[in-house]
This record gives sequence, structure tokens and C-alpha cells, in this order.
Amino acid sequence: MVIRGMFAPVLGAVLASSGGVVHAETEVLNFPQGFKWCVATAAHQIEGGNVNSDWWAFEHQPGTIKNGDVSGDACDHWNRVLEDSLLMKTIGVSMYRFSVEWAKIEPREGEWDKSALFHYLAEVETLRALGIEPIVTLQHFTLPQWMRLRGGWEWDGSPAAFERFSRKVYETIGHRVRDFVTINEPMVPVVGGYLAGLIPPQKANDLTAGVLAIKGMLRSHARAYAALHDLASAASRPVRVGFAHHLRVFDPLRPLNPVDRVAASIFDNAFNWGFYDAVETGRLKLWIPTMMNVDVVIPGLAGTQDFIGLNYYTRDMVKFSLGGTSGLPMELVANPDMMKNDLGWEIYPWGFYRILKKIKARTPNKPIVITENGTADHDDSFRQRYLSDHLKALHKAMAEGVAVEGYCHWSLMDNFEWVEGFEPRFGLFEMNYSTMRRIPRPSAYLFADIASRNRVERDASVPWGSWRK
Ligand code: GAL
Repeated sequence: MVIRGMFAPVLGAVLASSGGVVHAETEVLNFPQGFKWCVATAAHQIEGGNVNSDWWAFEHQPGTIKNGDVSGDACDHWNRVLEDSLLMKTIGVSMYRFSVEWAKIEPREGEWDKSALFHYLAEVETLRALGIEPIVTLQHFTLPQWMRLRGGWEWDGSPAAFERFSRKVYETIGHRVRDFVTINEPMVPVVGGYLAGLIPPQKANDLTAGVLAIKGMLRSHARAYAALHDLASAASRPVRVGFAHHLRVFDPLRPLNPVDRVAASIFDNAFNWGFYDAVETGRLKLWIPTMMNVDVVIPGLAGTQDFIGLNYYTRDMVKFSLGGTSGLPMELVANPDMMKNDLGWEIYPWGFYRILKKIKARTPNKPIVITENGTADHDDSFRQRYLSDHLKALHKAMAEGVAVEGYCHWSLMDNFEWVEGFEPRFGLFEMNYSTMRRIPRPSAYLFADIASRNRVERDASVPWGSWRK
């Protein structure tokens, strides 16, 4: 085995001396001191009772969510903040990424719900009291229904509305929070809501509206970025503002086929990097032949990202095809040779490493936080290996100079998985939705072990990069 890199992985012999019974080929990967072990959630998926949101209205349309599920009480987290914060503490979490719910804070336009604001202040205080650092997402897929009725991110008033909301949140919890994610995975609702048309605002194949929404999100982010920095500097406090980007690997289905290769790179640019680069340069460039050609400068946007939030889950194989998915000149297919999770997503830890290296090449001086990584595994049969292998990929990238500050596992507990309803199980804790009990899975114990020792141990003889069937 090659021993290299900043953290110099050492063999199990060292561990054996600490009393553990360790296989001779155990590989030990130490993380740097101060590395943050984190779990991530989103308000709509766990809190319950999000009655004034667009998703609430959407879910109640028949046929929108698998098995006819609605978010309802979700995990009843709204009433269990202390219990869930203590759960985090038991598994060694030192940072928690969660979202505040705009639809609860501003249920009607311009009307602030003080009890909702107070609720989030109490949540942040609870976390702080337990020594858990909050990282707060301002918008995670849901919008207030009033905002959706005005056109959501397409509405030209959305930047002013989002700025006003961001200020309100900052005025309430800004003294206790340093890191903010403005918008979660901005490109995901564009693909889901404007191409596939399967989530709000349910506009299929409407790229014109989709591009308007992208511009709305970029302008809104820029306004919130400036506002949070103004408020923080007036109070002499540190603040950092960024996005949680959902970045996927896109590889050609037929690696030697030139059209598949071109299609994969076009999709990679449009989905992964168009938005990402815009935040750095202030110029949005999106190009998909015959479908989209955008090149526009957005004032105030350049350089409005203090850290890079990365959500990494999987890879798609790209096949050139006229009349492909949602009218695109290409199709996205799952790699037939590889292992999949319960949702059919390829498990591809090597892709995590590849994406991290690309981020470093594009934005060499920005710190990175892994804002989400996890998998749907109802019986916890492969999550432990998934976790170790992704952490190996992360460790390798860090050993090669990629500056990652922390890792947030998606998710603390099973929750409402959007159009897939309650069926997929992403939690370190299993949810019993009838009793609302949280039951630790073996993976929760593994996470606790990793977090408490700040290191991962894995069987070095097991291949980790791509999970072949
Ligand atoms: C992300 C999303 C989360 C969660 C996760 C698992 O794309 O931000 O809300 O649903 O996927 O599918």
C-alpha cells in the first residue's frame, strides 16, 4: 500500500497498540485537527406543518408524490429541536447544517411571524449551548406560497423580497451564526421544475422561464450576500456566505464515442459550472445546442461566494440522442455495471474526488464545506461502506491540497424525500413515523466513531473508487 499525503495514512498496527482489534490491512485516515463532523437537514423535510409553502400546496395535488405521501408532520422536528440536537451530540457532531423556513417566517407578504423567528433563535442557542456550530441555509427548495404565486424566482421582485427576508433572519440569529448558505442546489429545481416539470412550478420544457428563474436566484443571492456582509460589518462580526452546489459527474456512456463525449461535456458545463462560474465572474453563460444560449452579465454578482458548499451524490452517464430526456439532445442513464442505492443512483466515491479536484482547479483559493453527502439505504446494508469510501475520496483530495473544512452527512434521520415521499431512507437514525422514535442505525455508531476519533478506518484490501456489481 502506498503511504502518502499530508495526513500520511498509517497501517492498523498503530491502532492495534491502542487496544482495538484491527485487521492487518486496516487503513487509517486521519483528518486534520478542527475538521468539522456535521449532519445536514432541511426544514420542509423534517419540521412538519409547513402549511404556507408552495410545496405544501403542490403535495396536496393528487399524483405529485410517490405513494400519495404529504410532508404533514414530517419528523415533528419543530417540536423536538432539543431531542434532535442531543442526538447529534451523541454521535459527535460539531457542526449542523439546517434551513430556516421562509414560509413560516413570512407566511404572508411583508408579515413576519415573530414566534417562528424566535423558534430559530432558540434552535441556534440550543446548538451553541451544546457546542455545535450552526450553518444556516436560507432557502432549501421551498418558497412561501405567496412568493410562488407572484412567480417565484422568475418574479422581478424576488431579489428585493429575498434580501428583506435574509436581513430579518440575520437580525434575529446573526450574532450566533457565521456561515450562511443562501440557496440550496439552485440548478436542481430548474431541472426538476422547468425541464421535467415534476416539482414546483411544474413547467415542463420551459427553459425560457427556467433561465429567468436562474437569473432571479443569482440576483437574489447577490442582494442577500451584500446585505449580510453589510449587517455583519456594521456589528463587527465575521460572516461567510455561499451556495450549496449540487455537482454530479457526467461521463460519456460510450467512452470512445465522440458525440457522447461532447454531450457529456455540454451537460457538465450547463448543469455544474454555468451557475457556479457566474457567481465567481458575474457573467452567466449557458449553452445547450438548439435549446439554450445565454450570455449575460449580472451586476453585483461577481465574487459573492466566500466558501464553496458541495453536495455530492452520484454520477450520470450521458448518451447523445436526438429527442432525449425532456427534449435535450442527450439522455442521462445509470451505469449498468455499477452498484446503485435504493433510488437507483450509482454509488461512485471516485466521483467525489474528481469533483473536489475540479473545484480546486476552478476556485483555488476558496475553502470548501461538504454541505451534503449520503445515500438511500433502507436496511443500512451498504451505508457504512459508502461513508468510509466517500471519506477516503475526500481524504485523498485533501491530502492533495484541496481545502475542505468539514463534512455534512445527509442526513441525521430519515425524512420527507420530496417527490419520493417517505420511502427512501437517508438517515443515520431510522425514523419510526408512527411513534416518531429515532432509532440509531449501525451507521450512526460508525459516524460517532469517526467523528470522535477524527479518523476513518477501512479495510485496505477492498476496492473503494467505483462499486462494480
Ligand atoms: C439533495 C437535497 C436534499 C435531499 C438529498 C437527498 O439534492 O438537497 O434536500 O433531498 O438530495 O436526495
